[in-house]
Amino acid sequence: MKKNLLVTGGAGFIGSNFVPYFLTKYPEYNLINLDKLTYAGNLSNLAEITANDRYKFIQGDICDRKLIEKIFEDDEINGVIHFAAESHVDNSISGPGEFIRTNVNGTFTLIDVARLAWKGTQNRFHHISTDEVYGSLGETGLFTETTPYAPNSPYSASKASSDLIVRAYHHTYGMNVVTTNCSNNYGPKQHNEKLIPTIIRKALTGEKIPVYGDGKNIRDWLYVEDHCTGIDLAFHKGRSGETYNIGGRNEKVNIDIVKGICQILDEKKPRSDKRSYSEQISFVTDRPGHDRRYAIDATKIENELGWKAKENFESGILKTIHWYLQNAGNK
Ligand SMILES: NC(=O)c1ccc[n+]([C@@H]2O[C@H](COP(=O)([O-])OP(=O)(O)OC[C@H]3O[C@@H](n4cnc5c(N)ncnc54)[C@H](O)[C@@H]3O)[C@@H](O)[C@H]2O)c1
Repeated sequence: MKKNLLVTGGAGFIGSNFVPYFLTKYPEYNLINLDKLTYAGNLSNLAEITANDRYKFIQGDICDRKLIEKIFEDDEINGVIHFAAESHVDNSISGPGEFIRTNVNGTFTLIDVARLAWKGTQNRFHHISTDEVYGSLGETGLFTETTPYAPNSPYSASKASSDLIVRAYHHTYGMNVVTTNCSNNYGPKQHNEKLIPTIIRKALTGEKIPVYGDGKNIRDWLYVEDHCTGIDLAFHKGRSGETYNIGGRNEKVNIDIVKGICQILDEKKPRSDKRSYSEQISFVTDRPGHDRRYAIDATKIENELGWKAKENFESGILKTIHWYLQNAGNK
């Protein structure tokens, strides 16, 4: 049987790393990328596969039920990997409505069309989510798959809602679903608005490098290619109805990341005045409700599916900075 995979949000950061990886690795799949191309979507990040005859791009909205029904019918979709979302926490604070529309209503529309189109078959629906659904950690402890949901921002609340819809479709309709919750991704092709691209860009353009609050918030960083291999494993081998946490075991304090990137840039692309980029660091008012610490326990996906992150933060950040230096001016 032909394998026709619908990927949503494939023009975003993680999607545009995943689509070329998956197409190259699996010649038996056709891949249809549905993306609305919001400000966060960038087709030039997919230039390497645009001419591949197993790849098709459709510009459209995951909330557009008629369009999704047509795609399922025309392209005989028999697998979904759902990345599309509004993903930036700051935007969810200034304008939560779009987060509820895309992340909650969009996920509902997509999985409901899949349910009706697939009529009880065991095609897989893979939902991509975040560790932010678990809320904030104290100084110790890790998020596991059984940590209670306690989202704090409109973004994480909308993702938590979508996770629960997907869960309910497994329990109620017996759909073959899997959900992966991952920590902060970094790597090539990430939108400028996110922390690491912001640090690199502002440093290189000579602007102030903004750091929220006291800079002591902790995130657990995952190199985007390691995330792609985790999704691949969970999609193909994960147990139906299960969730898997994906995290790189790379807890870092924000200010250390900023200083570390400045140090690498001092070496790779010194300022013309030979002073350190770290002189551009500027502390700004903290984000409201800013979660203090996230850290993921990835034992389940490691033990059950044999996943392991290849990159530690030190190797991944070097690759990332190298990419940004090569692609300066990129979105
Ligand atoms: N980036 C991270 O660190 C991270 C961490 C954990 C989970 N996630 C999750 O991974 C997924 C992908 O994240 P990302 O960082 O690549 O996001 P992104 O913002 O870079 O990309 C999102 C993509 O979705 C598309 N999109 C948005 N609304 C749409 C709609 N209504 N219909 C169709 N397409 C739409 C955008 O055009 C864009 O191409 C999201 O579900 C996000 O919640 C991301």
